[in-house]
Amino acid sequence: MILAIESTAHTFGIGIVENGKILANEKDSYTTEKGGIIPVDAAEHHKQVADQVYKQALEKAGITEKQISAIAVSNAPGLAPCLIQGMNFAKKLGGKLKLPIVPVNHCVAHLEIGKLTGAKDPVLLYASGANTQIIAYASGKYRVFGETLDIGIGNFIDNFARFAGIGFPGGPKIQELAKKSNNYIPLPYSIKGMDVAFSGILTKLRQMIETNKYKIEDLAFSLQETVFAMLVESAERALAHTGKKELLLGGGVACNTRLQEMCKIMCKERKAKFFTPENSLLVDNPAMIAYLGEIMFNKGIKIKNKDINKLDINPRQRTDDVKVRWK
Ligand code: ATP
Ligand code: FE2
Repeated sequence: MILAIESTAHTFGIGIVENGKILANEKDSYTTEKGGIIPVDAAEHHKQVADQVYKQALEKAGITEKQISAIAVSNAPGLAPCLIQGMNFAKKLGGKLKLPIVPVNHCVAHLEIGKLTGAKDPVLLYASGANTQIIAYASGKYRVFGETLDIGIGNFIDNFARFAGIGFPGGPKIQELAKKSNNYIPLPYSIKGMDVAFSGILTKLRQMIETNKYKIEDLAFSLQETVFAMLVESAERALAHTGKKELLLGGGVACNTRLQEMCKIMCKERKAKFFTPENSLLVDNPAMIAYLGEIMFNKGIKIKNKDINKLDINPRQRTDDVKVRWK
């Protein structure tokens, strides 16, 4: 049985997994009414809620501390103050229970949890807050075929929402506003080879808000249609290039029903299968850390309890830096 800690950004969570089965996925997220995420405030939030979330997870799973075999912790990548909270919690708990630690890359966990959907060898469209990548697994690594050249798609949407006076996270609110419009206002379409870029589109949108000439619903609709089309175009090209027949959509922005719909249409047209996990496993969650943590632990990938002080954070680790030693 693996207990995992997630604390890389806005969410603090404790997950418990046994034999690939999720027994607990408890979390508490930092949100704001106005403005964006302040890393030290999010870290303080994590510190405040940690013990309570831990207790809740044990209760939910109906287990005692003694049944835990190892502690997985998402130690990369993310916001340093938040990562430190998770690491400290792991060290404290590991010290108390004398357990080994399994350090898990958060982005790779977003991808691996997709295996629960039944996808075998997919192209992955990873669309989250800080990341936007088109990935496929080949010879020991998740290789990045295309990615954002500037900000992640979720951060782009959240930044637009913040500028429009909507709180954090903006993604779900923009989705609801977009449903109220079908008036497409042309926006720059920014795809370079397999890569995408959002900051120019963001500048344009901010200028449009400032003119007060546009309805927020129309801007939300046009934003979604434009940037999701960019992602789907790049994902389709990756499918064509690799010859793979499955598309797996992951990351928090994958909750967006319009993005899911566009992916489905593309897959149907080229006779590929489309997969996406349920929403609770798409946004940041501790179950995905526990799920991958268990797979790694079973392959002997861990820090022994006597070496617990070697555990460190890695705020900038990339998906393709991670050697996939568990396949
Ligand atoms: P990363 O995984 O890259 O470190 P993160 O942990 O911040 O980033 P996630 O929790 O995976 O990201 O996703 C959060 C993002 O998902 C936020 O930017 C949020 O606005 C966005 N999001 C959530 N629901 C929706 C939705 N329905 N439509 C669009 N975006 C959404
Ligand atoms: Fe995430």
